[in-house]
Amino acid sequence: TLKEEGIVGYTSPSNIALVKYWGKRENQIPANPSISFTLAACMTKTSVEYKKKIRKDDEFSFDLFFDDQPKEEFKPKIKTFLKRIEKYLPFLKEYHLVIKTSNTFPHSSGIASSASGMSALALCFMEMERTFSAPITDDFFNNKVSFISRLGSGSACRSIEGPLVQWGETSSVEGSSNLFGVKYPYKVHDIFNNFHDTILLVDKGEKQVSSTVGHELMHGHPFASQRFEQAHENLDKLRTILAEGNLNDFIGIVESEALTLHAMMMTSHPYFILMKPNTLSIINEIWKFRQTSNTHVCFTLDAGANVHVLYPENEKDIVFPFIKEKLISFCQNGQYICDRIGLGAKK
Ligand code: PMV
Repeated sequence: TLKEEGIVGYTSPSNIALVKYWGKRENQIPANPSISFTLAACMTKTSVEYKKKIRKDDEFSFDLFFDDQPKEEFKPKIKTFLKRIEKYLPFLKEYHLVIKTSNTFPHSSGIASSASGMSALALCFMEMERTFSAPITDDFFNNKVSFISRLGSGSACRSIEGPLVQWGETSSVEGSSNLFGVKYPYKVHDIFNNFHDTILLVDKGEKQVSSTVGHELMHGHPFASQRFEQAHENLDKLRTILAEGNLNDFIGIVESEALTLHAMMMTSHPYFILMKPNTLSIINEIWKFRQTSNTHVCFTLDAGANVHVLYPENEKDIVFPFIKEKLISFCQNGQYICDRIGLGAKK
């Protein structure tokens, strides 16, 4: 039964893909499978206050606050999201919603907040449903939240749980689905516990090409089918690498995936480049350092110029000083975020 009013809240993390999702079909169905580390520090905190409308109508009704300020610019995105999820959560139109949201990472840092933001909102809506409905299992809840999050932003479906989440049907992962992310079901070596991700903020500006457009450009892309095939192969290879903790092979896949993502951008029509000169300088410094330091530091990239520097906990005392001394100078205003692998969303 629907309640008259109430409030729900969640904090949900961002995630960083190891095998990248790039290209999609109708209804946010991914063109290839992907897998990501859930993060721990880059989070979105969202609350939704709901109150039954006095007069029923056929409109969504909501106010939106970002960092306690009304945020009209974000409203069309939320409205599109609400329209997409309406048939799965039909009670939403019966309420006036007051959505309050904030990020734990600096505003406009160039860090995409769509994964953490959309998953936090999906969690709030699903918590409403859980309040109104007969008891449901945690597995059902998590799968449906991930399903709803996917309709907000594809990669958001990988933010609910942790430390590793896989999304997209593929033969090497049992239970994999195009509709929602699943907690990686296989053994993962201890070396990946407490893995670090130091995010170097190279460029905080608005991206020239959004990921929506980027995904779109994979339709008719000359290398699309080979790329999609490669993502399946990489996921398959990762299974033994993750189980055995083979860091050299891990690096080989993760760095190649990052560069392939950007290669797809550079070879689409129209073509574009999201990396900046400092992105390449950082990559080169990481390669030089890795050769001489006997460590396993590596990089990955999102759809932007920022660099995610990944390394295991037991190499932190060698790698972090290198980051501070050599890499921070390539960041805009010296900005970076110390993140690490995390366990997913929290109430
Ligand atoms: O979730 P979207 O539509 O913003 O796409 C994000 C895609 C990448 O971040 C580039 C890769 C990924 O798998 O997260």
